[in-house]
Amino acid sequence: MGNTRFIPALTVALLLLNFVVSFSTKTTTNISIDQSALLALKAHVIDPQNLLTTNWSSAFNICKWIGVTCGSRHQRVIALDLSNMNLSGTVSPHIGNLSFLTWLNMKNNNFHGPLPAQLANLHRVKYIQLSFNGEIPSWFGSFPKLQYLSLSHNNFRGEIPSDMFEGQPRLQVLYFLAKDGLFGKIPMSLFKCKELQDISLANNKLEGILPKEIKNFTMLWTLQLHNNLIEVKTKSICTQFWHLKNLLSFSDCSIGKPQILSSSFIPNSLEAEFHLYQYF
Ligand SMILES: *[C@@H]1O[C@H](CO)[C@@H](O)[C@H](O)[C@H]1NC(C)=O
Ligand SMILES: *[C@@H]1O[C@H](CO)[C@@H](O)[C@H](O)[C@H]1NC(C)=O
Ligand SMILES: *[C@@H]1O[C@H](CO)[C@@H](O)[C@H](O)[C@H]1NC(C)=O
Ligand SMILES: *[C@@H]1O[C@H](CO)[C@@H](O)[C@H](O)[C@H]1NC(C)=O
Ligand SMILES: *[C@@H]1O[C@H](CO)[C@@H](O)[C@H](O)[C@H]1NC(C)=O
Repeated sequence: MGNTRFIPALTVALLLLNFVVSFSTKTTTNISIDQSALLALKAHVIDPQNLLTTNWSSAFNICKWIGVTCGSRHQRVIALDLSNMNLSGTVSPHIGNLSFLTWLNMKNNNFHGPLPAQLANLHRVKYIQLSFNGEIPSWFGSFPKLQYLSLSHNNFRGEIPSDMFEGQPRLQVLYFLAKDGLFGKIPMSLFKCKELQDISLANNKLEGILPKEIKNFTMLWTLQLHNNLIEVKTKSICTQFWHLKNLLSFSDCSIGKPQILSSSFIPNSLEAEFHLYQYF
């Protein structure tokens, strides 16, 4: 009699244990996936200052590697900061295996495209800052948690893919610093990003009439569109933006003065999350 109750309970317990064990080995403790991803990244990179060459060694815990931060709970890589390392070469598709990554900063390097489509596997990513030569890939647009996107380089060029902003509802900051590199129209999908606070598309060759949907950005703080070929159809659109705290600038409206911003603001929520890392 006692056994008939005990057996189902035991089965449940065993199933649960099995689940916990397989869950932790498959998704939480297997840092070797992250290690092989980073080693593949290193293998594609030209590293003139030998910053990764000796430091990124399998003899040491990857959580101590330069530019790498692991989460305290999972011991998986959550932040990768390779900014200002003078790296060149290509970005390895293995980067897409860093499935816990939330923060990716590769600014002030010299990577060339194409960016690997596997980047789109980084579903947890909130912050991307890249400088690379090449075009914005057409697959770009499926980062449900992305809050900050900055793409820059003097040799970064092409059209902004029309559906680029379809899958980024949380975007707050958008910086495209391309120095004349971007042309075509501002894609309408941008206006789906209702949380945008800071937009800079200045100094490109973007054209067309500024869509009236620009009014939908109710949280906007800075809008920089100067030095493009963008037209404003009704001047009333200009006065809509008097409230902007920083400034507004584009060809036909002159409210505020164009500023050259080399770096940008970090949303408060992200800053709170990442202020512990020294990587800024
Ligand atoms: C971790 O992943 C590697 C493949 O990257 C695999 O060979 C190894 O068996 C995995 N270890 C565990 C404990 O799951
Ligand atoms: C790698 O770099 C980090 C950060 O600069 C440093 O703390 C660590 O000791 C280095 N490890 C090796 C093996 O050089
Ligand atoms: C950066 O790399 C370039 C070549 O890619 C080299 O000419 C230059 O000296 C490097 N700068 C530093 C600070 O190492
Ligand atoms: C990581 O990514 C590469 C390229 O996208 C792939 O070939 C590899 O099988 C992936 N998995 C692991 C565990 O390295
Ligand atoms: C802009 O706001 C208006 C009014 O709230 C709304 O009807 C429209 O769908 C919005 N446009 C976009 C592209 O979200």
